[in-house]
Amino acid sequence: MHYDVVIIGAGGAGMMCAIQAGRRGKKVILLDHSSKLGSKILISGGGRCNFTNLGASPLQYVSKNPHFCKSALSRFTPEDFIQMVQEHSIPFHEKKLGQLFCDHSAQNIVNLLKDECHKAGAEFQLACKISAVNALSSVPGEEDKFSVETSAGHFTCSSLVIATGGLSIPKIGASPFGYELAAQFGLKIVPTVPALDGFKFKDAEVQSFNKLAGISVDCSITSNEVTFRENILFTHTGLSGPAALQASLHWSAGDPIQIDLLPDLDCFGWFMGKKQQGSRALVKNLLCELLPSRFAEHFCDLYFPSQLPLPQVSEKALLSFCQKLKAWTLTPSGTVGYSKAEVTRGGVDTDELSSKTLESKKIPGLFFIGEVVDVTGWLGGYNFQWAWASGWAAGQVV
Ligand code: FDA
Repeated sequence: MHYDVVIIGAGGAGMMCAIQAGRRGKKVILLDHSSKLGSKILISGGGRCNFTNLGASPLQYVSKNPHFCKSALSRFTPEDFIQMVQEHSIPFHEKKLGQLFCDHSAQNIVNLLKDECHKAGAEFQLACKISAVNALSSVPGEEDKFSVETSAGHFTCSSLVIATGGLSIPKIGASPFGYELAAQFGLKIVPTVPALDGFKFKDAEVQSFNKLAGISVDCSITSNEVTFRENILFTHTGLSGPAALQASLHWSAGDPIQIDLLPDLDCFGWFMGKKQQGSRALVKNLLCELLPSRFAEHFCDLYFPSQLPLPQVSEKALLSFCQKLKAWTLTPSGTVGYSKAEVTRGGVDTDELSSKTLESKKIPGLFFIGEVVDVTGWLGGYNFQWAWASGWAAGQVV
C-alpha cells in the first residue's frame, strides 16, 4: 500500500498534519496502535481540553534551543486554531490567563480533527501495531522512501511523520516509539523526564505537610529563576496544583524551589503594624488571618513555635520568620512521574530538525512533530498549540 504520507500517531499533532497534507492533495494515512482516537485530548483540561492559549509565544516553551519553536508558532497561531473551533460551532470560554477551554467536552475537539481529516481525504488505521520501519535505498524516480511493517499490513511512503507524543500516562497509549525510531535513524535525543507533574519530598520536615493534603495556598513559586504565581496544593506525597506543576517543568534533580507564601504582602511591615496597633495576639493566630488556618498553624509549629504575645516577640525573630514566609526554600526529592505528568520534557533534539518544516536534516522525508520533539510548553494550552503548529508546519511540505 503506497501513500504519499504515513503519519504514525493520530493525536493532535498527527491529525493536524494529516489535515494540511490532505488538503494539499496528498494521499495520507494515520496509523495508531490505540483503538480509541485522541485519548490524550479527551482527558485534557479535566475533560474540557484547554486547546490553546491566547498569549502563546515562544517564551512559554522549554527546549535546548528556545528559538526552535518560533517559526511554527508564528505561522499557525492560537487565532488560527480558534477559527477552526468557531467554524465547527464549538462553544468555548477563557477560564483564566488566556486559557481557552471547550464549554462542554474535549470530544468536540476530537470530532473537529476527525471531521477535517475525513474532509481532507486522510485515512485512519487504528489498533495498528508497528513492527518495523525502514528507509528504502533511494532509486532515482522512485517515490518510496520508507517502509512500515504493521499488524494491518505493509505500507510504503515518500514522507514519514512521527507524531507518537511523549511518555506520560502509559496506560492510555504513550510509548517510547518516537525516541527509539529517532535513535534507529541516528538522531540525537535530549534526555526525557516527566514534567508538569508536581513534586515529591523525602525530607521529614516537608513530609509533615502531607497531613494537610487538600489544602491549597495562593503563592508564587520559583524554580531555576522562573517564577509562577498561582495555587499550590498539598498532597499526600508532596506538592501539586498549577504553580507546582509549572515549577516542575523548570526543575532538575537536586535543585531547590522557593515559595513566597505571601506574594502581595510586606509581611514584616504587616506584623509591625499589628504591633503598633497594640495587638497582643500570638504570631500563629495572626498568620491565620493571612493563610489557610491549618497550614498557618502547622507552619508556625515548625518554624515559629513561640507562645509569646506579639509585643514580646523580638523584631529580629519576627524578621527571620517573615523571611521564611517570603522565601520558603525546599528541595524536592523528585517529581511525581509519568503516571501523573502532563508532558515529557526533552525528546528529539531540535538540532536534528528544520525549524520551518520539522524534517530531519539527516534523513530527508522523515519528520517529527508534537510532543516527541524537545519543545515543551507551560501548563495552560501551550502544549496543544505546539502540537497544532508543528503539525501544521510539517503538513505544508510533506
Ligand atoms: P499525543 O500523545 O496526543 O498523541 C500521540 C499518539 O501516538 C497517540 O494517539 C498514541 O496512541 C500514538 N502512539 C504512541 N505510541 C505509538 C506506537 N508505538 N505506535 C502507534 N501509535 C503510537 N496540553 C494542553 O495544551 N492543554 C491541556 O489541557 C492539556 N491537558 C493535559 C492533561 C493530561 C492528563 C495530559 C496527560 C496531558 C495534557 N496536555 C495538555 C498535554 C497534551 O495532551 C499533549 O502535549 C499533546 O496531546 C501532545 O500531542 P501529540 O499529538 O504530540 O501526542
